[in-house]
Amino acid sequence: MDMMKSPVDPAFRNDVLSCFADQQHAIPARWLYDRRGSELFEEITELPEYYPTRTETRLLEQHCPDIAKIAGPERAVIEFGSGSSTKTPHLLRALDPAGYVPIDISGEFLAASSRELQTVFPDLPIYPLEADFMRHLQLPEEVTDMPKLGFFPGSTIGNMIARTSVDLLRFMRDTLGEGAQLLIGFDRIKDTDVLVAAYDDSAGVTAQFSLNLLHRINGELDGDIPVDRFAHVAVWNDLYARIEIYLEALADVRFAIGGDSYAMQKGQKIHIENSHKYGLRDARLMLRAGGWSPIREWSDKDDYFSLILADARPFKNAP
Ligand code: TRP
Repeated sequence: MDMMKSPVDPAFRNDVLSCFADQQHAIPARWLYDRRGSELFEEITELPEYYPTRTETRLLEQHCPDIAKIAGPERAVIEFGSGSSTKTPHLLRALDPAGYVPIDISGEFLAASSRELQTVFPDLPIYPLEADFMRHLQLPEEVTDMPKLGFFPGSTIGNMIARTSVDLLRFMRDTLGEGAQLLIGFDRIKDTDVLVAAYDDSAGVTAQFSLNLLHRINGELDGDIPVDRFAHVAVWNDLYARIEIYLEALADVRFAIGGDSYAMQKGQKIHIENSHKYGLRDARLMLRAGGWSPIREWSDKDDYFSLILADARPFKNAP
């Protein structure tokens, strides 16, 4: 093994090998975000076609004062999947919370963005938590007795299938406790052309982002996948109300990964991401299925994106 390389994540190897061993080719989207992938994703968020980041950021700029009024003072803000925390300052400025817990799976990212945020908000107690919020969470002791406001922007919920998103919402309710509130972003159903363009931009940045996964496999798992024989494909699946992203073989291909041989036929596709879109009623129903009651919502004038504020009331049995 090349000693200069950082060790390969065994979960990455497993996911990739089981993808090619299976006839249903799929690789979980989280592997898109190596260093290069994260850089390319940052670029995506600035593309003219990629409206979600820009639209949600504007909604936060405009409506955080309202949100703060409803949420009230002295809450701890708990952000699920904080990444670079770029949208959070708007919320923190308006809310002036008693504490902030950014949760992210990447410790490196988390430490850097927490440090940066601390310079902007010197008096805010920040308790970074390195964790996979899809699995298990123990919130820092310091915030145990504070009422919570969960923050889940980016329509990240849309990257899960319905069953998983409901599980996560229920888990969030259990973690944040009764009386908690949740501010969550939902990307809306809109013109198919607009949706597809957002996931297949004219400059080809999104294609590079998807294809980077194959470069990553080649680099980290000793592969020789002919990347130029694959195309990035984004399709709207109306039945499931989601954009599906694939890498499609443009010819019959043979390649090796870690010494084992694989083949794909022309037209075969590797599924790498789902991005579900919602009507407002879909979003509210999903929240309620997860134990949250919607209290207010904010949308841009084109209804491209919505923020919903919900709370965790005591459960009551309906007659
Ligand atoms: N998952 C994000 C989204 O649904 C990020 C994303 C944007 C993405 N473009 C992509 C993921 C292309 C995979 C492929 O908006």
